Amino acid sequence: MTAPPVPHHLAIIMDGNGRWAQQRHRPRIIGHRAGARAVKRCVEFCLQRGIGALTLFAFSSENWSRPAEEVGGLMKLFLGALEREVEELHRLGAQLRFIGERGRFDASIQARMQAAETLTARNTRLYLNIAASYGGRQDIAQAARALAEDVAAGRLTAAQIDEDTLSARMALADQPAPDLFIRTGGELRISNFLLWQMAYTELWFTDALWPDVDATLLQAALDDYATRERRFGLTSAQIKGSPIGKTP
Ligand code: FPP
Repeated sequence: MTAPPVPHHLAIIMDGNGRWAQQRHRPRIIGHRAGARAVKRCVEFCLQRGIGALTLFAFSSENWSRPAEEVGGLMKLFLGALEREVEELHRLGAQLRFIGERGRFDASIQARMQAAETLTARNTRLYLNIAASYGGRQDIAQAARALAEDVAAGRLTAAQIDEDTLSARMALADQPAPDLFIRTGGELRISNFLLWQMAYTELWFTDALWPDVDATLLQAALDDYATRERRFGLTSAQIKGSPIGKTP
């Protein structure tokens, strides 16, 4: 018997922190703190299940427009997590990567991000990617700009621009594309997350709020994923017996 397929790369929109706090008549930041505890459970789950890459949408380009008090609270939470959790993640074999416009963060956070990436750069057990001040359209735009600069400098011709050259300039170009996307919090959209990278990703949505997420819920998503037939635009008959049908 072969083991059921586990996604190599899991991508998550962690939605519902604010509502979780509201249900308890507490400030929204309490929901974000509970969300940070759920992040730890999720990382543990990925390590246990042998998932090779986890990408978490921690802060979108649009989240800067939230009330200043909430943005400030989130920044404190991120800085605290960077100060407290990185050593342990390193010990566990996680390689940390931050994607998005990191120049928009305070210098103290940027320095911690850089230090975390440097410390964990050689780890291979889990690629832990944190999307922070990230937007999928912005990611595509910066890849297009990089290619335009290559053409202007004579390193590339316009005719050489294709899916592969653009892919190579996108965030996470060195990692396989997400196999499974999870969004908590009941909304059925991908909200400018990894637009390019998720072209063939399987989507799974739940009404559960992010701070309530545990191994049982994550396993339910994996069980559903294991039943999916991934066709990548081919027919079912073509896929049967093919190694891309169900990624191991
Ligand atoms: C969305 O919930 C969540 C966020 C904008 C922030 C996500 C941050 C965390 C889970 C905290 C810690 C993360 C790391 C990586 C340390 P929402 O506020 O939009 O919830 P709502 O839809 O119920 O209002």
